Order: sequence, then C-alpha cells, then structure tokens
Amino acid sequence: MAECVELIYDGGIAEIWLNRPKVLNALSRQLMDELNEAVADVTRSNARALILAGCGERAFCAGADIKEFRPIATTVDARAHHYRRDVCSAIQSLSMPTIAAVHGYTFGGGMALALPCDMRIASDDALFALPETALGTFPGMGVTVRLPQLIGRSEAMRLIFTGERIDAAEALRMGLVTSVVPRQALIDEARRWALRISENAPLGIAYARESIARGERMPLAEALKVETDLNMFMDTTDDYAEAARAFVEKRKPRFMGA
Ligand code: COA
Repeated sequence: MAECVELIYDGGIAEIWLNRPKVLNALSRQLMDELNEAVADVTRSNARALILAGCGERAFCAGADIKEFRPIATTVDARAHHYRRDVCSAIQSLSMPTIAAVHGYTFGGGMALALPCDMRIASDDALFALPETALGTFPGMGVTVRLPQLIGRSEAMRLIFTGERIDAAEALRMGLVTSVVPRQALIDEARRWALRISENAPLGIAYARESIARGERMPLAEALKVETDLNMFMDTTDDYAEAARAFVEKRKPRFMGA
C-alpha cells in the first residue's frame, strides 16, 4: 500500500497527492517510486484530467529529500537522477491534461514536478525557489530544459543562478503559474479547471496537446503541417459530427472520445 503518495479517482478526474507532510513532501526514493506507480495507474485509467497536489498546510513539495543525498556519486545515485527525470517525463507524456495545484514551499524538485504539467495554479501563500546551486549542484529533473521554455531564458537563469525565493504574484507575472487563488480555494479551483476541460472533446484536447508538444520540437513550416494533419483527422471523428448536430439541435454535445 502506498504511504507517500495518494491516488484518488473522482468523477473522471484523477488526483495524485504527495503525502509526506511532516517533511514538507520531500521527494524520497520511496515517494518517487510510488509517484511513478501512480502515474502508470493514471496512464491505464479512463481519467479525463489529472491534478497533482501536496498534502499538509505548509508545502506542495520542498524538493528532493536532502537526507538521502550522498557525497559521492555511485551507480545507484546516477540511476536515481535518470529515474526522477523519467517520472517527470511520464507526467508530461500522459494523454490527459494535467494541472499542478501548488501551495506553500514549492522548491527544487517540487518546481521540477510542477513544470511538466500543462497548467500550474498557485495559492497566494506559494513560495517558489530553486536552491540547488546553494546545495553544490544545479536543478535537474528537466528544470534547465522546461523552465526556459516556459518563462524565457533570462528569468529562468535568474531563478536557477540566484536560488532566490519568489512569491505567487511574481510567479504569475513571470508566467510560471496561470492563476493565483486564496489558499482555501486552491483545490476547488484546480478541480473546477479539470472539470471544465474534461467536459470538452477528449480527442480535441489530446490532439491539441500533441500538436503543441510536437510543434515545440519542429521548424515552423513542419509544425504547421502537423497541426493541419491532426486537424483534418479531427474532422473524421464522431465527436466532431456530434458537436455540429448539438449546435443545430440547440443542446450540449455528448462527447464519447471517438
Ligand atoms: N529534504 C528532506 N527533509 C526536508 C526537506 C528536504 N528537501 N525540506 C524540509 N525537510 C524536513 C526538515 O528536515 C524538517 O524535518 P525534521 O523536523 O525531521 O527536522 C521538516 O521537513 C520541516 O522543515 P523545517 O526545515 O523544520 O521547516 P522550516 O519552516 O524551518 O523551513 C524550508 C522550511 C523549506 C525553508 C526548509 O525546510 C528548507 O530549506 N528545506 C530544504 C529546501 C531545499 O533546499 N530544497 C531543494 C532540495 S534539492
């Protein structure tokens, strides 16, 4: 039974909760194992959206578990680096939209886990930092790749090089999060977004995600061709026909994901 991660399914929405609140949800090996299993479970499920959140009042996640750091890199430590990176990639590869709901300390690996999500919603008490350079290393788990893509190279370098803490308002200004809400409203806000998204055509959302993801890795002309090809495929789906019928019949469409 999972001890450090809780996985809940509710009405088509999956929620993964980091659950080590006494140590501010620090990412131990056990937690990462359980997170990996939870993400695999969500992959096999019919969930239409995923929310990633942290238990406890004080933190979404205060980063990698520093008490497990070892001074000399062993093969095991090298594997751990790959493993943590791959868990983030697995989150990014999920076929449904993903929302990180972050509060309190969102440091180091905590930021790294939020970055592969499609959206980040923060509570007004959220504090973000990448303290790794003060710990004799630099941020891994995809941060040096995903953060510049998200907020631009200069702001990313500022956060990575200084390790400074920024609050939710500054994170919103930088585009690190999409909205900021009062602490008590955070999970309801994340569920509201998840529900709203899950009411739209699942294939439309899945292919939009694919178009965005593939477009990031391609020259413009090629990316536009991929978008057109995926768009043309959408025209052949039942849900596309259903939406047109529903419009004429003045009712809400019933999307089946086909
Ligand atoms: N790894 C392991 N344990 C951690 C942790 C981490 N990243 N962050 C917090 N904890 C533990 C603390 O050791 C403490 O446990 P203890 O009561 O058994 O000693 C508990 O969580 C509460 O943290 P504490 O430091 O007492 O709270 P605080 O309010 O004084 O400070 C922080 C909060 C987040 C500023 C501080 O815990 C901190 O700097 N943590 C490390 C953050 C970091 O550098 N993360 C990047 C890692 S790459």
